[in-house]
Amino acid sequence: MATSRYIGPTPLHCADVASAIIAESLEGRDTPVLGVATGSTPLLTYAALVARSFDASRLHLVLLDEYLGLERGDPRSFGSTIDRVLAGPLGVTSERIHVPPHDGEMTAASCGRFEKLLHDLGGVDLQLLGIGGNGHIGFNEPGSPFDSRTRVVELSDRTMDDNRASFGTATAMPTRACTQGIGTILEARQLLLLAIGGHKARILHAAMDGPITPSVPASAVRLHPRCTVIADAAAIAPPVG
Ligand code: F6R
Repeated sequence: MATSRYIGPTPLHCADVASAIIAESLEGRDTPVLGVATGSTPLLTYAALVARSFDASRLHLVLLDEYLGLERGDPRSFGSTIDRVLAGPLGVTSERIHVPPHDGEMTAASCGRFEKLLHDLGGVDLQLLGIGGNGHIGFNEPGSPFDSRTRVVELSDRTMDDNRASFGTATAMPTRACTQGIGTILEARQLLLLAIGGHKARILHAAMDGPITPSVPASAVRLHPRCTVIADAAAIAPPVG
């Protein structure tokens, strides 16, 4: 089966397994390229990756998505988060960190340049993914076509509610983001989707065992020839109610 599943008893076990898969996927590559997600789910995995003796001297990091309207140095931006939790500790310098276009005039051309950059890097070796409460991957909200490319999207009310806490006030929360498309994500050589916590159980079940449909964007990972899904025991518990 193309999609393999690993259930870890705890989030720490999951992070350990995920970091081992990531390190192995990058080993021996001339230009290793890791696609990174932000949010709370991958934080333990990033800490576990940093703790491994792993050569990051040529590593490139490519972000899945970024809010529109935040400066690159804004601590709430995904770029800054990756600087703090992964790039800094691994010693990945700014010219090897690639963030989808998010400021100035957002055009199809700037999104196209980002896609070309991925191509010029030789493609993404492994793309790490979380899963949103509504099934989004990156910021591909329900209804996003499976062949979508990097583009500007409107965030759903559910996504804004889920992420508002990091922005303090309701009005400070960006309403738009630039995200790699599902088609872009599916071009990575390997996918690793992480789901941690009981609040992900219902949507993980829908994505992994329900129909493969744009209504549940994460279900698209099952179309990928090489995808691993790692979940902790809470995330696979039968949904209540
Ligand atoms: C963030 C991203 C999102 C998150 C998802 C889950 O870069 O791409 O799809 O992975 O919203 O977020 P957490 O991990 O905070 O539950």
